[in-house]
Amino acid sequence: MGTPLSPVSPQADALRTLILVTVALAGFIGLLVTGLVTYAVIRYRDRGTGAEPRQSGGNRKIEIAYTLIPLGIQCGLFSLTVVTMHRAEPTTTNRPPDLVIVAHQWWWELNYPGAHVVTANEIHLPAGKAMLVELRSADVIHELWVPQMAPKMDAVPGMPNHLVLEADRPGEYLGDCAEYCGAGHAWMQLRVDVQTPQDFEAWERGQSRPPSLATGLAERGRDIFQSRTCIECHAIDGLGSRGNVGPDLTHFASRATLGAGVADNTPEELDRWLNDPQSLKPGCYMPRMRLTPTEVVDLMAYLEGLR
Ligand code: CUA
Repeated sequence: MGTPLSPVSPQADALRTLILVTVALAGFIGLLVTGLVTYAVIRYRDRGTGAEPRQSGGNRKIEIAYTLIPLGIQCGLFSLTVVTMHRAEPTTTNRPPDLVIVAHQWWWELNYPGAHVVTANEIHLPAGKAMLVELRSADVIHELWVPQMAPKMDAVPGMPNHLVLEADRPGEYLGDCAEYCGAGHAWMQLRVDVQTPQDFEAWERGQSRPPSLATGLAERGRDIFQSRTCIECHAIDGLGSRGNVGPDLTHFASRATLGAGVADNTPEELDRWLNDPQSLKPGCYMPRMRLTPTEVVDLMAYLEGLR
């Protein structure tokens, strides 16, 4: 995962400046104090004469200096922190968000309200655009952190927060949940795929369309999806299911990973996931469905056609 030391947005750039200035200042003070203490220990060590050292005190100039200098440093760091907070926050939250992120135990629901796109765990962004994000939680407190793009932000039930996600160039960036939220906390990965504006528009258009019609094995898979409990938790466009306990699967096959980053989205891993999700992601809310081998083959054919 990248760090705020390699920022791709003005927000993360402001954070890097604050981090570097604070560390440099603290490092300088640390070295200075260590140096002075070392000097005093050696220069004024007990030389075996047994005499008391010369006593001194009440030097007003020095007392004023060592009160004013730290005060100045504190004020400087405080001002820089306030400026950084201002630069890292959205300039306005007074408009509809470009992206609504809802944190769930243990995955991220992603809604692009303007384009009627719902997906999960893999954010797509156009390079160079500051996306206003509304962050919510469906259950407990989570925390969204994409270190190269923005400060950490809590996802609190019942209290939407806002942040800006942006990147100045296309690329793949990683985010995570940064607040312990239960058994699956370590597997709440968030991939941020920053694309050229043209590629992003094409992606958004593709995601806003219903998936292609299921035929053959996939049609049988779709029937299994509808008749077993899958449909109670997962939404798929065109099936009339609106469940959102688990991720929307409308374009499942277009995603790179399974289970919020726990495995690559390959036929082998999907097979494991359908047979026994708990073996891949212990504690997750997807139960073991006890599907027959034929049912798994049919379901896989259906899910892998959801592009
Ligand atoms: Cu969600 Cu930790």
